[in-house]
Amino acid sequence: MNKRKGIVLAGGSGSRLFPVTKSISKQLIPIYDKPMIFYPIAVLMLSEIKDILIITSPEHVHLYQKLLGDGSNWGINISYEEQEKPRGLAEAFLIGEKFIGNDSVALILGDNLFYGNAFKDLLIEAKNNNESASIFAYRVSDPERFGVVEFDKNYNALSIMEKPKKPKSNYAVTGLYYYDNEVIKIAKNIEPSDRGELEITDINKEYLSRKKLSVKVLGSGYAWLDTGTPDSLIEASHFIYTLEKRQGVKIMCPEEISFKNGWITKDKLLEIASLTKNNYNSYLKRIAE
Ligand code: G1P
Repeated sequence: MNKRKGIVLAGGSGSRLFPVTKSISKQLIPIYDKPMIFYPIAVLMLSEIKDILIITSPEHVHLYQKLLGDGSNWGINISYEEQEKPRGLAEAFLIGEKFIGNDSVALILGDNLFYGNAFKDLLIEAKNNNESASIFAYRVSDPERFGVVEFDKNYNALSIMEKPKKPKSNYAVTGLYYYDNEVIKIAKNIEPSDRGELEITDINKEYLSRKKLSVKVLGSGYAWLDTGTPDSLIEASHFIYTLEKRQGVKIMCPEEISFKNGWITKDKLLEIASLTKNNYNSYLKRIAE
């Protein structure tokens, strides 16, 4: 049986966040108590994916290596590739071709934040579904900023359009995608769009035309947050802060997920927790004990 690998795409210029992103990569900016990229990595870990490729721009790759290393602290394998220019999300499958090998793959965007109860079940289902590609839709008030999916009355996907001027629904396609190995071939055959990018939407359209696209709606019990602007950054931080403070848990904490998946031992978690004294590490200590 083939495995499923994971790719986090953390490229882009982050221009909407200038000057913040003049010297650092957007996906390293904190969302409350963790660097942004912890959240998408945690989603792949919840999906029980252990082999993860981080794709980032050449000038930032060393920063990610410093933060994440080879992943062994979290019981996972992290490798790195560079995307020289923001040539589109679908380029991830060309850059990651060797990494993917003969396996299937999940792609998550490095600036997408997901949260929801029973999210893990949904992720495992998508990971184990080898019959079709799986993507997720979320109701938003400004669909024209996203890929938009149109449904029939039984929530079967009818069409997908990238940033349509007149959206056919309020359902945005989120930045989390599960594909079989065919995705590499499909990515090689699509043409750059008017904005000069290889669009993930064109890949989804191809799976849809083959009747091999499952689109699950993330209902109101889920949060899918944007982090692209100064306003959305602080809103996301407040959201995480409020939940964590109120519930006394951490949201999308990779060390905790790894421990609960049985990928690191109690001793390893305690070792990480003993590095410095702060709130994050006392939480890890509590989880270990
Ligand atoms: C990309 C995709 C879009 C998707 C969005 C999710 O948009 O092209 O279909 O809805 O991510 O975050 P971009 O970030 O390139 O504007």
